[in-house]
Amino acid sequence: MTSKIRVLITTPWPQGAVDAMREHFAVEVHEGPLPMPAEKWHAALQDFDAIAPTVIDRLPPAAFQAEGRRTRILGNFGVGYNHIDIDAARASGLAVTNTPGVLTDATADQAMGLLLAVARGISLGDWHIRDGQWTGWNPTDRLGTQVAGKTLGIIGFGRIGQAMARRAHHGFGMPVVFFNRSRIDPALAASLGAQQLDTVEAVLEASDFVSLHCPGGAETRHLINAERLKRMKPTAFLINTARGDVVDEAALVDALQAWTIAGAGLDVFTEEPKVHPGLLALTNCVLNPHLGSATIETRTAMGLKVVENLVAFFDGKTPPDQL
Ligand code: DGY
Repeated sequence: MTSKIRVLITTPWPQGAVDAMREHFAVEVHEGPLPMPAEKWHAALQDFDAIAPTVIDRLPPAAFQAEGRRTRILGNFGVGYNHIDIDAARASGLAVTNTPGVLTDATADQAMGLLLAVARGISLGDWHIRDGQWTGWNPTDRLGTQVAGKTLGIIGFGRIGQAMARRAHHGFGMPVVFFNRSRIDPALAASLGAQQLDTVEAVLEASDFVSLHCPGGAETRHLINAERLKRMKPTAFLINTARGDVVDEAALVDALQAWTIAGAGLDVFTEEPKVHPGLLALTNCVLNPHLGSATIETRTAMGLKVVENLVAFFDGKTPPDQL
């Protein structure tokens, strides 16, 4: 028997996760246009018991008001939730959940991949071959920067920051320093070859690579600004798989153009899918289209997490990942 509980998924998911949702609920998937238009969102609030948005659905306070609203919960597909005004959602009586844990490894892999790609010219080299620019091996052709043994600085030492430290330290012999707002157990940090420093500046000054793993939102907006970019070594690289607006993109373009830092590996941007035109013109940065969690295993697991949260909610329990 089909459930009478109606769930709208705002963006197509991997089929395995949609099928799992259909085992419990009457499901509709919005196939496009993406992001789902505001009129459809407002109609959905009246028609569905639950809506499962993603990072591309920007949800300000006005998004939660609809006459005769039927929706009681938003099961966000993703761990980051700075696209949702959580206070306004809660104040209007909506529960909100996210999907922590299941995308830790995929995101840390992506950060490490960007670090290697920008340090070793991996994506530029690929582009040069396709463009017919490779004339043959020689000892000074396209020299990159050694990664092994260099110091990695991490901003935000939650699950993903720790997974990044594990890869860097145990895989590449990198000493790790990090900034985190709360104190991290020194034994845990030591097991990852990591040392907590007191300020963001201290991390920037000590590091050959800086990788951002803090949440997005008002508190971290432009955390990396012109002043802080100046604290980085001219040989250092910035990696961002967190959220675009953690970095002041205009200031980053200036720093990359002037080579006051050596390069950047970016998976996230302030106005996705738009990318700052200054970045597009530079060869000392590697750009990826928000692929941190983009493996079939991880995206399926994220969907299954949403299912788990909605099932708990409609069973009258507190969802495991309620925000
Ligand atoms: C996340 O889960 O936060 C990813 O960035 C995709 O939204």
